Parts: sequence; C-alpha cells; structure tokens
Amino acid sequence: MLTETLSIETHPVAQSRIEAVDFNNLQFGRTFADHMFVVDYADGEWQTPQIVPYGPMEFTPALMALHYGQAIFEGMKAYKSENGDVLVFRPQKNWERLNKSARRMCMAELPEELFMGGLTELLRLDAAWVPTQPGCSLYIRPFMFATDEFVGVAPSKTYKFLIINSPVGAYYSKPVKLKIETKYVRAAKGGVGFSKNAGNYGGSLLPAKLAQEQGYDQIIWTDHKEHRYVEEAGTMNLLFVIDGKLVTAPTGDTILDGVTRDSILTVARDWGMTVEERPVAIDELLEGIRSGRVQEAFGAGTAAVVSPMYAIGYEGTDYHLPEITEQSFAKRVYRELDDIKLGRKPDTRGWVYKV
Ligand code: COI
Repeated sequence: MLTETLSIETHPVAQSRIEAVDFNNLQFGRTFADHMFVVDYADGEWQTPQIVPYGPMEFTPALMALHYGQAIFEGMKAYKSENGDVLVFRPQKNWERLNKSARRMCMAELPEELFMGGLTELLRLDAAWVPTQPGCSLYIRPFMFATDEFVGVAPSKTYKFLIINSPVGAYYSKPVKLKIETKYVRAAKGGVGFSKNAGNYGGSLLPAKLAQEQGYDQIIWTDHKEHRYVEEAGTMNLLFVIDGKLVTAPTGDTILDGVTRDSILTVARDWGMTVEERPVAIDELLEGIRSGRVQEAFGAGTAAVVSPMYAIGYEGTDYHLPEITEQSFAKRVYRELDDIKLGRKPDTRGWVYKV
C-alpha cells in the first residue's frame, strides 16, 4: 500500500479540543479537527510532509496566492461505519481533479502517495472527529496555494499543500430555491471554470448575495454567450428528472466535473435509467416545470450531497417544482449513496476507501 512507504513527521496536540465540540449542533465549516497535514514544494520537489496541530500559519504579505490567485482546493467526506471504520468516498477522484486544477493553474502536481498517505495518517489521528450523528460527516478540505514572496506575474516556484478536516452537518438543511443568473458569468470556453480554483467561488459571491437578498438560496449559472443554457449552481452541479430521464449539462471547460454528479449518473445508469448529458435550455426547463415534464430538480456536490429544489426563479417569476417524496429519484439516490458511503451496502464499484 502506498501510504505505508510515506514518512510523515507527526507532532500531535498535547490536548485535544474535541470535548468542547457540540456534535449535535454542527454548522458547516466552522469547527476544525485537532490536526492538519502540511507539505511544501520547493526546489522542484515535495519536501518532508508533516502532521501538526491545526492552527494559524505565518505568511509574507507578498505571498503570491494572495495576489494572483494560484489557489486550488478539493472537498471530500469521511464517514464512520457501524463497526467504527473510517470510510472516505472516492478520494482518488479528488486527487485526480486536484491535479487537473493544478495543471490549468500552472501549479505543481501532487503525487498520489502524498495525497492518500497524508489523508490516511491524518484521519487515523483524528478518527474521533468523524461524526456518527445521522446526516453528519467529516468534511475534508485538501488545498494548495502559491507561496513565493514575489509580486511579479509568473507561476510561483513554491507551493504549500494542506489537508484540514471539519465535522459538519448538512450544507442545506431543507429544499432550496435557486435563481437563474443572467447578468454575471462564471466561466467561458477556454477559461478556468472546470478547475476548482478559489477565484471561481470568489466570483460567485456578489451574484449569490444579490440573489439571497431577493430570497433565493443560491444562483444557477448560465452559459456566457447567450445566457440560454443552465450550467451549474454556485455550490453544486445541477440535475433534473425530465420525462423520467436523468438530465444534466455535460462537463467541459465551464462546468466542474463533480464526484457526486458522476456517482449519481453511474447509479442511475446501473438502475436502468436513461441518462442524458446535454445542454439544458432555460426555456425547456421552465416550460417543463409548467407542463409537469420536469419532475425533479436537484443540486449535487460533496458539501451539498443531494439538495432538492422547491423552486427556480427566472426574471422575477418563481417556478415551483413538485414536492419531493420518499420515492423521488433524488431521495432514492441520496439513500443509495449514503448506504454505500457508510458501508451499509456492498461497495461493488470500489468507491469506498477504508482508512
Ligand atoms: C464541495 O462541495 O466540496 C465544495 O467545495 C463546494 C463548496 C461550496 C463547499
């Protein structure tokens, strides 16, 4: 196993902070586990990795990541099975995507051994932080940023890769109402939309805030040319059940290749459902909601998991979707993935990594 060959310098905390955490009232992304994994890239190679207490870090004000945005991240989740095993859902996919983002952002690529080895050792040390409460998990945030002290525009020569962990509850605790965004743009062909870089999310904050002021939970991005096709939401991919078929926009330059999205499409195909990866026009969507052909609309992501929509807003009108029931595809696929992630159902696709 790769992780056994990796030598990590480990400095455990003197005293865990876990006693102070109320695991029955977890907010998303506000609480952090005791330790973090850190490794630096310098002189053309990755240096000795370390696990150290989670806490503040010191940086130069000229840190390149702060100026030109070479900063990428991932999101994964760990779960605790009934027999106490810590299980991570599809981490290799996240490692692959991290490096896809790194290539586009002209950053150093991370060897699988460092990603998986760091993850494994960190989770072994902080296993007690994996929640067991229903709907809760340990959100894992791997990220990398440029660390050169330089204000010229050029790729940094040094980087830092870290993994931090946060016990979380639901990102969206109830069905959401999303607004179709037709003024601001997230991504264009040839751009960085497919990469999980920090700037893609920074650019979403203003339109999301404006939408929230109008009573929406988030926005739905549309294509940059015509604002005619829906792409993804600010925090998740988008999927629809139309005439009994699962329909979603194809990934490409402008849409993130979501791990949850891919898992849902795979399960749907295995269940014999027709899956269409094709552009979804706003007209088709709204007309379909009116006529009842659009049976379900939901978002999918690591943080959001499967988040049904109760309405979609477009140019001041809200289009209401049918109520989600236990038989809805979104509910069934959520349960199926949950059962796999928690080890309650056999992992026939090799998706679950046991720490
Ligand atoms: C994730 O789902 O892991 C993300 O990175 C999305 C972010 C909005 C939390």
